[in-house]
Amino acid sequence: MTDRPFDGKVALVTGAAAGIGRAAALAFAERGAVVLVSDIDDTAGEALATEIEAAGGRACFQRADATAEADVVSLVARARSTFGGLHLAFNNVGFSWGRGIGDLTVEDWDRTVAVSMRAPWLCMKHELPVMRESGGGAIVNTASMAGVAYAPEANIAYSAAKAGVIQMTRYAANAVAADHIRVNCVSPGLTRTAAVERFLDARQQQELAAQTQPIGRIIEPSEVADAVIWLCSSGAAMVTGENICVAGGQQAR
Ligand SMILES: NC(=O)c1ccc[n+]([C@@H]2O[C@H](COP(=O)([O-])OP(=O)(O)OC[C@H]3O[C@@H](n4cnc5c(N)ncnc54)[C@H](O)[C@@H]3O)[C@@H](O)[C@H]2O)c1
Repeated sequence: MTDRPFDGKVALVTGAAAGIGRAAALAFAERGAVVLVSDIDDTAGEALATEIEAAGGRACFQRADATAEADVVSLVARARSTFGGLHLAFNNVGFSWGRGIGDLTVEDWDRTVAVSMRAPWLCMKHELPVMRESGGGAIVNTASMAGVAYAPEANIAYSAAKAGVIQMTRYAANAVAADHIRVNCVSPGLTRTAAVERFLDARQQQELAAQTQPIGRIIEPSEVADAVIWLCSSGAAMVTGENICVAGGQQAR
């Protein structure tokens, strides 16, 4: 098997400038894909595209707020105009912060649901026609163990939105299976990214990982990216509509 299984493929990653999205963008590029790096952080997004090109890959950055339809439309149009199509998409944007049921405001609810659930829907809406035109492809959405299990460190809107991502994934997978497009999602457990580091210091991260994840340690972004890459690969040709938990053994409860 080639170590560049995505040669000739175009991959789009949202929330690519940091954390899990960054790890996935690098992994797609290492395996031969041309990567459309997208984020609202221009500096880090541009730097990642430059890093991929310096390592011999092909990438470009386009700023897009994945909750804004006009941005998503022009992002997908860019894949078509600059690279000729779209085969792989990692709809990864999502956001949460810990607030109890009673502390969450309507604005918090709307923002959380927009970033965590509207964004992957908008991405799928506009990616699917271009993927069809490109002869098929694979989409991976980022859900979360907070959408599968009770995760008190996440807020209620995030938990609901991520459960929604899992069901949207099943819905889309069935709707487009005949078009040779597979749609799956990954549910990470506690993963070492800036999003987590903003709320938990290293000791708290380790304690939470030990409590919730039987393997007993925090997950690295590249370990989530490995699952994304597999779901996009020919090895997963008969896998669609699934939610793959990358969570060190954490179970639904
Ligand atoms: N880190 C974890 O423990 C964990 C666990 C479960 C699920 N997740 C999910 O994984 C995904 C990635 O999280 P992460 O921890 O890598 O986060 P991160 O904060 O490290 O990176 C998120 C990236 O998304 C970008 N972004 C934020 N809002 C955006 C928007 N509206 N449009 C475009 N880009 C935007 C940010 O600028 C940043 O570069 C999210 O969906 C998150 O909910 C993370």
